[in-house]
Amino acid sequence: MDATINSHSSVSSWRDFPIKQQPTYPDQDRLIQVEQKLQGFPPLVFAQEIRDLKKNLAEVSAGRGFLLQAGDCAESFAEFKAKKIRDTFKVLLQMAIILTFAGRKPVTKLARTAGQFAKPRSSDQEVVDGISLASYRGDIINSVEFNSAARIPDPERMLQAYHQSAATLNLLRAFAQGGLADLHQVHRWNMSFVEASPARDRYLEMSERIEDALGFMEVCGITSQTAPSIRETQIFTSHEALLLNYEEALSRIDSFTDKRYNCSAHFVWIGERTRQIDHAHVEFFKQIENPIGVKIGPGIDKDELIGLIDALNPDNQAGRLTLITRMGADKLAETLPVLIRAVKSEGRNVVWSCDPMHGNTVKASSGYKTRQFDDIMRELRQFFSVHQAEGSYPGGIHLEMTGEHVTECTGGAYQITDSDLGSRYLTQCDPRLNADQVLELAYLIADSLKATKVGLESRIN
Ligand code: PEP
Ligand code: CO
Repeated sequence: MDATINSHSSVSSWRDFPIKQQPTYPDQDRLIQVEQKLQGFPPLVFAQEIRDLKKNLAEVSAGRGFLLQAGDCAESFAEFKAKKIRDTFKVLLQMAIILTFAGRKPVTKLARTAGQFAKPRSSDQEVVDGISLASYRGDIINSVEFNSAARIPDPERMLQAYHQSAATLNLLRAFAQGGLADLHQVHRWNMSFVEASPARDRYLEMSERIEDALGFMEVCGITSQTAPSIRETQIFTSHEALLLNYEEALSRIDSFTDKRYNCSAHFVWIGERTRQIDHAHVEFFKQIENPIGVKIGPGIDKDELIGLIDALNPDNQAGRLTLITRMGADKLAETLPVLIRAVKSEGRNVVWSCDPMHGNTVKASSGYKTRQFDDIMRELRQFFSVHQAEGSYPGGIHLEMTGEHVTECTGGAYQITDSDLGSRYLTQCDPRLNADQVLELAYLIADSLKATKVGLESRIN
């Protein structure tokens, strides 16, 4: 891979477009030095891996796979610990087994990590006790501490984000290939989750069926020793490519194909607040070959959506574009069918994924930002049933979660209430599902996933 990007100058073309949600760096010279440094650093991921993911997503778009994208809302420098990475990785694998078994399709695991540092904000200013400061924009930009010096955007933070991402990826690759991903072991964790859950009976049957399937395979000689796919897995990384100085500096021309890839992650997405078609983010995404996502909220209309698809996937490549809908449980039934019909009638190739988190954020009476487990489930179930009714394929889910035992979203089998939120509310940004809630969710959507299989088969026959 060639580290120079000069021969393809359009990687900087976003700089000529209006842009939202960016910091203003007081020290421009230092910013340029940091960008140059990053341009010289090794890529975090490799073009061939990015192409592998695109191929997986092409299969998903054809109804032959499922996408599981999940992880932190925002990574932080302070909470950078092996245990945290491991616990999130474990839950991702645990979920993937349940979904694979239920849907009978390969599940592509896409972590929201190793780069998920920049956050769009609803306001440029944060006011606490009458004091107004620049908002926190994620650890790659400024510090969450509430004092004016901490909130000054510092380009050096991009270097720290790069190094943290490299170390996170290193650990994830080791976990994926070093034995931690063994199917038997992962299923054993699921068994203990089920045994301990207050909703045990609901999940026990499925858990036992998975156990039986693994046991049967073992008798047939398909074991961790004989089949690498039992003991290893592939995990991809993703984040919102919000801070374009960082994303541009990590883009590289692949020497095999002479095409440009953003090597900061395998998959990057454009957020709901920065997807204006004539703005910088869409322009930057046009210049990279990665599979990409775009978040779609309830405010979009079908013409705007088709315009975005035209801009981001003009060749209608399978696997290139994932539409991550985040409508809110109360709005999905009204907003999603129109969009699905437009995409279908225009013959556009997309992966439809559901983010049931960002349209369901509420303020609890205790003052904490939260999400109710029931709203999250309601949006997911509707997502599956609307796609089934429209004859389209619900290809994936996108969750904010953590392997830690946090109390940030209310509800679930352990019935976290508003008054529990304060006990372990650790997020830097949005409320995340905890490990128990995520696994519960996986078991609960198993039936919907089974139904998608039936829906698809009945269309083919
Ligand atoms: C996010 O995924 O953390 C996020 C900010 O999402 P959205 O752009 O959908 O609001
Ligand atoms: Co979020």
